[in-house]
Amino acid sequence: MASYDLVVIGSGPGGYVCAIRAAQLGMKVAVVEKWSTFGGTCLNIGCIPSKALLYASELFEEAGHKFDKMGIKVSKPELDLPTLLKFKDQAVDGNVKGVAFLFKKNKIEAFQGVGRVLGTGRVEVKAADGKTQVVETKNIVIASGSDVAKLKGIEIDEKRVVSSEGALKLGKVPAKLLVIGAGVIGLELGSVWRRLGAEVTVVEFLDRILPGMDGEVARQFQRILEKQGITFKLGAKVTSVDASVKLLKAQIEPAAGGAAQTLDADVVLVAIGRVPVTDGLGLKEAGVALDNRGRVVVDPHFATNVAGIYAIGDVIAGPLLAHKAEDEGVAVAEILAGQAGHVNYDAIPAVVYTSPEVASVGKTEEELKQAGIAYNVGKFPFTANGRAKSNQATDGFVKFLADAKTDRVLGVHMVGVEVGEMIHECAVLMEFGGSAEDLARTCHAHPTRSEAVKEAALAVGKRSIHI
Ligand code: FAD
Ligand code: NAI
Repeated sequence: MASYDLVVIGSGPGGYVCAIRAAQLGMKVAVVEKWSTFGGTCLNIGCIPSKALLYASELFEEAGHKFDKMGIKVSKPELDLPTLLKFKDQAVDGNVKGVAFLFKKNKIEAFQGVGRVLGTGRVEVKAADGKTQVVETKNIVIASGSDVAKLKGIEIDEKRVVSSEGALKLGKVPAKLLVIGAGVIGLELGSVWRRLGAEVTVVEFLDRILPGMDGEVARQFQRILEKQGITFKLGAKVTSVDASVKLLKAQIEPAAGGAAQTLDADVVLVAIGRVPVTDGLGLKEAGVALDNRGRVVVDPHFATNVAGIYAIGDVIAGPLLAHKAEDEGVAVAEILAGQAGHVNYDAIPAVVYTSPEVASVGKTEEELKQAGIAYNVGKFPFTANGRAKSNQATDGFVKFLADAKTDRVLGVHMVGVEVGEMIHECAVLMEFGGSAEDLARTCHAHPTRSEAVKEAALAVGKRSIHI
């Protein structure tokens, strides 16, 4: 029987990064993956393909609507959807092969099949042909990720009623796309298909978009998306979708109750969140505790209640983000090697990759108010930033939230072009316990959009220069 120091179940960003770090630390490592390619949701059907579509569709829109005002004459761009989808598939292919290469490089054994925990120290692997084998291991890390949350009474066929998976490969641009859920997936994939020509309506249960993000940022972002042509129906829920007719008919009701309305759509995208994957893993039989939302319960060292079994990534509590899963993978590998692996959950950036982007790190104003923490606000709009003005891309702003007594930065929130790259200096600042003053006194190159970050930090002390 094969024997390992560590067996990781799942090869998503949590699992594959954990395996690599453990191998670097001298452990004999195996990964069990049930899909035919490595990389999990993120590389196969999540972050990577969605970003390829966002990138290509953004350029399509720029070529069609922005080039002429810069004096660049091109004929009206035409969409070749099969090639655009191929571009996305190539992005996936390159990335998943990259993980296979890294496994080989780090001498990590990969088992293709469904992994099931047989208790401390034993994992069963069932291959696609039904053959099973059992491997022995000192430790097990469960990194089985998450799956699409379903909406009761609405059947996803991945053709007309799709989840994010189907929305990444629609064979035709829908004339009307109805998105259920104004979260990250709804807004990113809604943006892709709007740019490619769809009329997009987003129905959101709450009275705001992007719950969890700073409210002021979300409000301004909503206005920007509305200007781009996306329609929002907030405080509303889809109660049914009739797929028996040529055009889908969705019943929409106010969340608080009231008269229903029918909306037609060629495609309905269900994007109401994700649920942890724990089925078939043998967790119940092994006695591994789950919380009331079905997530594996872990202690601060990622250990479950069963000796030698750990869990990381989307299958445990916390934001469903690839980089959070990766950092947990590194931390648990280091803990298993006797080191002090740790994740600072107060400094995990989050980015919505639309155009413009939304980026944040740390606490929102709503969270600080609720916690009763006194804070100062420093804001700076891109309308006053030289680079943004020179590029005529002035939508959005940067907002700093700093502790009223100590000036320590507690959160930074941004909406604007490229803010997904700009947020990281704020994450570093927060990781080092820095103050708004620290950032305000750091020289920033001119002309860059990042100068807006410095100006917002200056604004905490009411001393921005360019406004
Ligand atoms: P996953 O990536 O879900 O990987 C779990 C793996 O475990 C899968 O490969 C699965 O096949 C395997 N597995 C499960 N059970 C078993 C079993 N019993 N045996 C063997 N293998 C098993 N996050 C970001 O940070 N940035 C983004 O831009 C972003 N975009 C996204 C876009 C979309 C459309 C979606 C759906 C998600 C996106 N996410 C993004 C979220 C991100 O994909 C997840 O947070 C991340 O993939 C979680 O990593 P994980 O390793 O925990 O799990
Ligand atoms: P989400 O949790 O971001 O948003 C779901 C939205 O649907 C919420 O606004 C919620 O209020 C709404 N909703 C729930 N039930 C509803 C109903 N019945 N009717 C109408 N609205 C309803 O989930 P989403 O967008 O599905 O994404 C899943 C996860 O994937 C996210 O948690 C996110 O972390 C991750 N992701 C991250 C990305 C990134 O980092 N750029 C990109 C895409 C996904």
